[in-house]
Amino acid sequence: MSRILITSALPYINGVKHLGNLAGSMLPADVYARAMRLLGHDVLYICATDEHGTPAELAAQEAGLEVSEYCERMHIAQKEAGANFKLSYDYFGRSSAKSNHVLTQHFAHVLEANGLIEERTSKQVYSNADGRYLPDRYVEGTCPNCGFEAARGDQCDSCGKLLDPIDLIDPYSAVSGSKDVEIRETNHLYLKQSSMASKLREWVEAATGWPPLAKSIAMKWLDEGLRDRAITRDLSWGITVTNPDGSVRDGFDGKVFYVWFDAPIEYIAATQDWAAETGGDWESWWRTDKGADDVQYVQFMGKDNVAFHTLSFPTTIIGSGEPWKLVDQLKAFNWVTWYGGKFSTSSKRGVFMDQAIDIAPSDYWRWHLMANAPEGNDAAFTWEEFQAAVNSDLANVLGNFVNRITKYAVGKFDGVVPDGGEFGEAEDWLIKELDTRLSALVGYYEAREFRKAMAETRAIWAAGNEYLTKAAPWTHYKTDVPQAAVGTRVGLNLVALFGVIAQPIIPDTAEKILDAMNIPKENRTWNFRTAQEAISALPIGMAINAPDVLFTKIEDEDVAAWTERFGGDDA
Ligand code: 2FM
Ligand code: ZN
Repeated sequence: MSRILITSALPYINGVKHLGNLAGSMLPADVYARAMRLLGHDVLYICATDEHGTPAELAAQEAGLEVSEYCERMHIAQKEAGANFKLSYDYFGRSSAKSNHVLTQHFAHVLEANGLIEERTSKQVYSNADGRYLPDRYVEGTCPNCGFEAARGDQCDSCGKLLDPIDLIDPYSAVSGSKDVEIRETNHLYLKQSSMASKLREWVEAATGWPPLAKSIAMKWLDEGLRDRAITRDLSWGITVTNPDGSVRDGFDGKVFYVWFDAPIEYIAATQDWAAETGGDWESWWRTDKGADDVQYVQFMGKDNVAFHTLSFPTTIIGSGEPWKLVDQLKAFNWVTWYGGKFSTSSKRGVFMDQAIDIAPSDYWRWHLMANAPEGNDAAFTWEEFQAAVNSDLANVLGNFVNRITKYAVGKFDGVVPDGGEFGEAEDWLIKELDTRLSALVGYYEAREFRKAMAETRAIWAAGNEYLTKAAPWTHYKTDVPQAAVGTRVGLNLVALFGVIAQPIIPDTAEKILDAMNIPKENRTWNFRTAQEAISALPIGMAINAPDVLFTKIEDEDVAAWTERFGGDDA
C-alpha cells in the first residue's frame, strides 16, 4: 500500500464549471483517486475553489454582490456541483481561507529572506472610469506589431505576439470600454524565477513518468528563459502583503498577492483545513521531514496550468528552503472542445456542470468524458458521440449483460448463486482473457492512461457477453441443469466483478449492481488475485436480485432537443 496525495487544479470561483473543465482535471483526478482506493492505497484527494483575482471581483460586481459574499455562494454552488458528479474529494477548500492567508504570507517571507523576492517598480495601465488598475488581458488596443485593433494586453490574437499592455496603441479598458486610461508607476514584489532556472531544469529533466505534454511545456519555458514575475497586484480582494510581524508592508496598502501565487499554496492550506476538521495529520502528507517523503504526489490539470505547476509553484517550494513535498507525477490534459470550437457561456455553446446533471445522470457523463479523455490531443464533445457511448457501451454492453444473467438466475435458479457443474472450455477461455485484461487495467490506472483504462474496462464487460454466448446456460438448461448452473454462477460472479471495476468510473451504477448482488460494502474491493478467484468468489446459495434497468437509452429526439438548447454541429 502506498500513500497517494492527489490534487486537481482549483476551479476559478467565477461560475459553475463547464464539462471541459470537469474533464481536464477534477473528473480524472476523482477516477484516479477512486481507482487507487479500490486497489488498497491510502489516498488523500484535495481540491478547493480558486477565489482571488480580477475575474472574481468583476463577477461579483456583475452579480451585484460583495466579493466575499459572491465567493461564499459560488463556493457552495461548486461544492454541490462536484457532489452531484460524485467527485470524492477528501476536502474541498477555499483559497480565501485563513490558513491560506497565513501560509502564503509565510512563503513570501521566507522567499524574501532567501533573496528570491525583490520589490520593483513597474508601469501599469490604470482605468479612471473603472477606478482600478487593469490586469494585462483587460487592456485592449491596437497591436503594435500587426495593427489588429482588438489585441489583448498580454497577447495579440491576430499575430500571436506576446505583448506588454503599455505598448498597445490607443489602449482602452476591456472592462468598461473606456479610453480614459493612463500609465502609472506602481510597486510590486517580484519572484526571481530566473535565479532558480538551473535548479528547475535539473528537476524537470530528472522527472520520470510525466506525460510528454507536461514535460515539453515546462522545457519550452525553460528554453525561452525564465522571467521574474510580479507576485502582487493592485487589487483589494486577496491576501494582504505583510511584514513578518504581521503588519502591512509599507507601500502595499491596496495590494494583494497575485492569484497564481496563492492558489497552489492552497493545496497545502486545504490539507491543513482537512486535518483540522478530521483530526488527520497534514504534515505527514506535505512535510518531507514528517513522513511525506514516502508520499506519491500526483497533480491533475489542463495544459494551460502546466507552467505554473512545473515552474512557479516549484520555485516557491524549492526556494523556501523548507522540507515541503514537491509534485512527483503530473497529469496534464488537452482541451475538450465543443464540436471542435470553444465552450462559450455567452453564446450558449456547451454544457455546464449544473445543467448537465439535469439532463442525464452523472454516470453517463463520467463514462463518456473519461472514455474520450483529451489525453493525446484535444477531444471534441458531440451529442452524437455522447449518445453512442451511453447506448452502446453502458446500456448494451454492461447494462444488458447484468440484466440478462441476473434475471435468468432469478427466473431459473430461485435468485441464488447455483451449485453444480464443472468448469470447461468456456471458463478456461474466460479466465485467460480476464487474467490478461485485469492486469492491463491495473497498469493503465497506475499509469493514469484513462482512455486505455476505459477501453480495457469495456473490453472486460464485452468478454462477459462473449462468455455468456459460449456458455449459453439457457441452451444447456433443457438437457443439463448443472451445466447451466456453471454458466449462471460464473455470470453472476462476473456481474459482481463488473460492479467492482466500474466503481471508479460510474460509482452510482456500480453501487446499484453491487447492492443488487448483496455484496457487503467491505468486499467491494480489488480483493482477488487471479481471474479464477474472481469468478468463483460468490458463496453458493447466496441470494441475489435483478437490479432495475441500469441505463435509459438516449433517443435521437433527446439529441435534437439538446442540440437546440445547448448548441451543436451548427455552432
Ligand atoms: O486555470 C484555472 O482554472 C486555475 N484556477 C487553476 C489553479 S490551480 C492552482 F491552484 F494551482
Ligand atoms: Zn498583432
